[in-house]
Amino acid sequence: MDHFLYRDGALFAEDVAVADIAAEVGTPFYVYSTATLLRHFRLFDAALEGMDHLVCYAMKANSNQAVLRTLAQAGAGMDVVSGGEYQRARAAGVPGERIVFSGVGKTQAEIRTALEGGIRQFNVESEPEMAVLDATARALGKVAPITIRVNPDVDAKTHAKIATGKSENKFGIPIARAREVYRMAAAMPGLEVVGIDVHIGSQLTDLEPYALAYGKVAELTEALRADGHVIRRLDLGGGLGIPYERSNADPPLPSDYGALVKRTLGHLGCEIEIEPGRLIAGNAGLMVSEVIYVKSGEGRDFLILDGAMNDLIRPAMYDAWHDIIPVVEPAAGVERAPIDVVGPVCESGDTFARQRMMPPLLAGDLVAFRSAGAYGAVMSSEYNSRPLIPEVLVHGDQFAVIRRRPTFDEMINRDTIPEWL
Ligand code: LLP
Repeated sequence: MDHFLYRDGALFAEDVAVADIAAEVGTPFYVYSTATLLRHFRLFDAALEGMDHLVCYAMKANSNQAVLRTLAQAGAGMDVVSGGEYQRARAAGVPGERIVFSGVGKTQAEIRTALEGGIRQFNVESEPEMAVLDATARALGKVAPITIRVNPDVDAKTHAKIATGKSENKFGIPIARAREVYRMAAAMPGLEVVGIDVHIGSQLTDLEPYALAYGKVAELTEALRADGHVIRRLDLGGGLGIPYERSNADPPLPSDYGALVKRTLGHLGCEIEIEPGRLIAGNAGLMVSEVIYVKSGEGRDFLILDGAMNDLIRPAMYDAWHDIIPVVEPAAGVERAPIDVVGPVCESGDTFARQRMMPPLLAGDLVAFRSAGAYGAVMSSEYNSRPLIPEVLVHGDQFAVIRRRPTFDEMINRDTIPEWL
């Protein structure tokens, strides 16, 4: 459920008409709903009730300061994957003890920043990283709390580019070698082992891969405890999917996921961390765009928008589906026809949807891409010298621009011309 609904024929974000935002900020833009962000965070929080837990929002999904502050004030921790994300989390007011640091290639500088600023734990992904972490912590006179990310060799049954839990993926340490690597970690004075980490992929629409992976983590927990390690925390990653195509989807709910966690791991008495990103932010955002032209091609028509692949890359990159709806509600029973929805960027990949059944639209009409709150703005670029589009946050009947559109001058002046030119 989200808070983007038609009221008297006009699309609203909570209590604000989307067309009013468009009139003020111009198109294209992203708009996020505070109520939806909070609702999704609280669903996860409630799903783990009864277990000691922390929901660490995977801020790679949407790292705008206002989004982070909204979630942090509700009690969320953060999962960060770079020094930049760490700094963003801190700038939004998240204390170090609520930040977990994931990622397969943390640099020594990033590790140092987090050790100095305070960190809940590092999720270590390789032996060389472990050695650098140990050395860096010792040089600073600190002890780094760690989990080791294990790769359970489970098929997450998701898009190949976002599956992470198979042995051929670059992530984590093969679970078969975990006991050996934990033994190495225990011998390093700069490290304190606190638990185990696992993340098998993103946009999972089936709980079975989680059940398999968490079953393996439960076995490993007992084996490591028998080896003498203190395993008191389990970081279970993120990845729960969302219904991108509403007419045709029924993914598991956070409550189903929570029940699975309790069933597979509850008996171990560990503190549970989860790292959801998409399910918190995805359906809390729209990308709103204006129709520039409707073009008749040979055998097919094109709806040419002012938004493009640089603003929302998911369709080009993952063949992702986003529901596209008109901001003015189509009349009941209006006839829909297939059309290709495209942006103005000079490559054929700049196609949001092929032969999508859409109601009639004209130049100047507004359309909204649903489920664009996660991996939308954060993955955008200025390709074709198109300035990054603004982000807007709605809260009840209020809205605020939370990242404005840069001017062309600002964009151009980031370049510098060497003195010989
Ligand atoms: N934890 C770790 C270690 C991760 O690598 C990820 C996502 C998450 C948590 C959060 O997963 P989520 O709950 O959001 O599924 N750009 C792609 C998705 C990439 C996901 C990368 N890792 C997309 O637009 O579909």
